[in-house]
Amino acid sequence: MTVVAVEPAASVRGDLAVPGDKSISHRALLIGAIAEGESSISGLGVSEDVLATVDAVRALGAEVDLDGVEARVSGRGLRGLVVPEAPIDCGNAGTLLRLLAGILAGQAGRFELVGDESLSRRPLERIAEPLALMGARVETTDGHAPLVIEGGGLRPVRYELPVASAQVKSCVLLAGLYAGDGPTVVIEPVPTRDHTERMLEGAGARVARKPGAPGVWPAENLRPLALEIPGDCSSAAPFLVAASVLSGSDLRLHGVGINPTRIGFLAVLERMGARVAVFNRRSASEEPAADLEIAPAELVGTTVRPEEVPLLVDELPLFALVAGMARGESVVSGATELRVKESDRIETVKNVLRPLGIRIETTHDGFRVRGVPSRPKGGGLVNPGGDHRIAMLAGVAGLVSREGVRIEGAECVGVSFPDFFAMLESIAVR
Ligand code: S3P
Repeated sequence: MTVVAVEPAASVRGDLAVPGDKSISHRALLIGAIAEGESSISGLGVSEDVLATVDAVRALGAEVDLDGVEARVSGRGLRGLVVPEAPIDCGNAGTLLRLLAGILAGQAGRFELVGDESLSRRPLERIAEPLALMGARVETTDGHAPLVIEGGGLRPVRYELPVASAQVKSCVLLAGLYAGDGPTVVIEPVPTRDHTERMLEGAGARVARKPGAPGVWPAENLRPLALEIPGDCSSAAPFLVAASVLSGSDLRLHGVGINPTRIGFLAVLERMGARVAVFNRRSASEEPAADLEIAPAELVGTTVRPEEVPLLVDELPLFALVAGMARGESVVSGATELRVKESDRIETVKNVLRPLGIRIETTHDGFRVRGVPSRPKGGGLVNPGGDHRIAMLAGVAGLVSREGVRIEGAECVGVSFPDFFAMLESIAVR
């Protein structure tokens, strides 16, 4: 296990471009693999998770030519994937496992999907149920990976999601490409990220982009993609936090995705008093992007409402840190989903932030933080539990603390953002 020490910084200054969006990268490779012809993707978010998807689509017979962050994918057509010799290893990537299952439900053959220890603890019944309703044969291992799918003739469904999850929604919509002759519709309790809908529409599928009730019609074929993937707003978020709380900071983040279903954290930060200017707005393929300029501000606590949770689900750990440095109390509720992410993030956030002096109390579906508008003390050795987002949280927490932190197992940032610590150091002013 690698121990990384992050020393306190006086401020953060400079210009950064974070890696390509992970959610969009997975989708680009998967949809490229079932398109007709060659897709070209630039700005791929190259990381362990996305490389697991590269390996998976290669194992299924699609050629991927990877050159840095540029990828070319030779699609095999909607029904042309082949059964690999070995089980498909999804590593740590929940998005890969759940989205791929939707595609495999429409293929002829028997496919087995496995994952690492963390992925094998995460719930799969939520995809097994709708896929079975559509007519696929799906076997989980007590509701978890390994997962075996035998696909074939699917029928369309109108499926009401029991939990707001873009992964489950996407799984069902992708299966809908193969389902009978009517639309497959997913009813969401609250809207979640819509990258799948946007990309399928870009590939020529008939898509109903109704917020809260998206639908997909079965397709004959998909056009290849020509995508420029914007920077990942979830990877930008730790830097936003550092620049907002450290006085004297002056930071610009270039080419960040600002899809409205992803930027709940920006809205919450602004409500707390953060000063973020969004400029150079543009559209990169089907996704909006912009440059962000962040200046420090005095922040006040706020409440994150349950219906906001999906819009910042991966940033809630960072919210706990900002809340700890804001004036007054902050509360998150309706976020039980945090318990089934790469770690139980309600527990791992507490485990990392408490030793630094942040006053956080956990609840069954969120947390409550009593903020003190000063630097947390820091100084400890923390363990992010193998979870990349918690390791990045610990990194920023160290930077904004008085004594820094040491992070055990910090290499897990490679899951989404291998250069995270190098980038953090590159903007630190000491
Ligand atoms: C993702 C959706 C979210 C998110 C994950 C990526 C996606 O998960 O936490 O990091 O790419 O669709 P859920 O949809 O299960 O909440």
